[in-house]
Amino acid sequence: MILTELANTGVFIPEVGIGTWDYHAGPGPLRKGLEAGALFIDTAESYGTEAAVGEAVRGMRERVFIATKVSPQHFRSADLRRSVDASLKRLGTDVIDLLQLHEPNPSIPIADTMQAVAGLLDAGKVRFAGVSNFSVTQLQEAQNALGRHPIVSNQVRYNLIDRTIEQDLLPYCRANRITVIAYCPLARGLNRIRDCDPTGVIDELAQTTGRSPAQIVINWCLCRDGVVAIPKGNSIEHILDNCGASDWRLSREQLDLLDARIQFRRRSRFDQLVRQWLPGPLQTLAVGTMNVLPRGLRRRLR
Ligand SMILES: NC(=O)c1ccc[n+]([C@@H]2O[C@H](COP(=O)([O-])OP(=O)(O)OC[C@H]3O[C@@H](n4cnc5c(N)ncnc54)[C@H](OP(=O)(O)O)[C@@H]3O)[C@@H](O)[C@H]2O)c1
Repeated sequence: MILTELANTGVFIPEVGIGTWDYHAGPGPLRKGLEAGALFIDTAESYGTEAAVGEAVRGMRERVFIATKVSPQHFRSADLRRSVDASLKRLGTDVIDLLQLHEPNPSIPIADTMQAVAGLLDAGKVRFAGVSNFSVTQLQEAQNALGRHPIVSNQVRYNLIDRTIEQDLLPYCRANRITVIAYCPLARGLNRIRDCDPTGVIDELAQTTGRSPAQIVINWCLCRDGVVAIPKGNSIEHILDNCGASDWRLSREQLDLLDARIQFRRRSRFDQLVRQWLPGPLQTLAVGTMNVLPRGLRRRLR
């Protein structure tokens, strides 16, 4: 497993971590992923998976980088401190490696939130501060509010078919040494990627490289400087397959083929705003509905 530096912290993390949204297979498969070298797990107070993560890392806690998230309704300083204490308890640990603000909450002053985050960093309950789903402007505001502690990461959607962040966020993060943690690196399922691959380039590359389609798709993310990926799998088979996305690279020619033949999109600002403000339960419903729609319609709504 290739390790990559988290921002410019001097701390190195695996370039493939393990996502746990909608994960329900218990600690066993997570443990297998850790043993295969994906010593980086992403969870959130809202996922209901912190306890499984805590169990999975038992006996090897000091080797694993645990990232969790605080939900936006808990961004007031007292609420945030309570949330972190509850996460620590569920995770069975006394320190969170990376605490991420799950998404912006404009109804709570960022200064209030960041004051609490700084206090947790100073107290040693949190090692590093990160954000998720923040735009460039929101990142700058959060960094100004946090002061001397750096924001080390921004966790955002990034995959072969949704390249929205390439417009401004990815260049900004690179220029400022902020690690991009790519979520939904498999676009929530290979069928979504195949919908945008009319000529079958992924399967072609899988054949020529001897890698699986998922490994091709995840490796595409890893070929981007400053990007790590956190695919989620609900089986040992999927998790181990995803670990095999590291330790090699697609060639320049293979990346060019993907650029030319995958029908990717970069979302408009309006589209991004609609997605950002759709409430969580509606997003889950939308994901389920999308999966049963005919392929043509799925592509248009993706
Ligand atoms: N910060 C945020 O707002 C945010 C939002 C979304 C996600 N995330 C994080 O990012 C993680 C990953 O995103 P995601 O879970 O939405 O989607 P994803 O990782 O892009 O895709 C997961 C889907 O791919 C399938 N899959 C996994 N490995 C596979 C393999 N090797 N071959 C074929 N299919 C495979 C899974 O099936 P099975 O489940 O059946 O294995 C599941 O249906 C989340 O778990 C979460 O930690 C963060």
